[in-house]
Amino acid sequence: MLGYEPDELAALPDEVTLSFAGTGNPLGVGDIPEGSVVLDIGCGAGTDLLLAARRVGRQGRAIGVDMTEAMRQRALRGAAAVGLANVEVLSGDAMQLPVPDRSVDVVISNGVLNLVPDKRRAAAEIARVLRPGGRVQIADIVIGEVLPEGALRDIDLWTG
Ligand SMILES: C[S@@+](CC[C@H](N)C(=O)[O-])C[C@H]1O[C@@H](n2cnc3c(N)ncnc32)[C@H](O)[C@@H]1O
Repeated sequence: MLGYEPDELAALPDEVTLSFAGTGNPLGVGDIPEGSVVLDIGCGAGTDLLLAARRVGRQGRAIGVDMTEAMRQRALRGAAAVGLANVEVLSGDAMQLPVPDRSVDVVISNGVLNLVPDKRRAAAEIARVLRPGGRVQIADIVIGEVLPEGALRDIDLWTG
């Protein structure tokens, strides 16, 4: 289960966990301090977002950003279903985050940056929104070789 605790997953709504599409466990990379502000870029249906919201507690906030309305709605319904009032879900793009400068303690993201066309721009946005001393905890896909043109143009390989 990618290092997730089965019990904490079981405590989330099925609508959230059944739509999980991550590549790892960004929450396993480091502690999420109580009272902190966490930003989940490409939060999808909200698995990591809701787990982060539990960790930061009532004094903290978990903010999800996703470009897909259906995913945002799932995350919002999931937060409401388990009574997490410290969750916000915003419409937005990883390359232009709808979040103020220096407002986030921990940026998390799971299986999203590989999908973002301009990764430098996305990295610059992460740097902009982090507070000094903030952290980035990302799970994603990395390839170590240059892909042939044919593979780049084969959409089945993008989604398989
Ligand atoms: C593979 S899913 C991962 C979802 C979630 N992080 C998880 O672990 O289940 C990718 C998500 O990123 C969102 N996404 C892709 N590109 C994005 C972008 N440029 N800006 C914001 N969200 C994006 C998609 O809408 C989708 O919800």
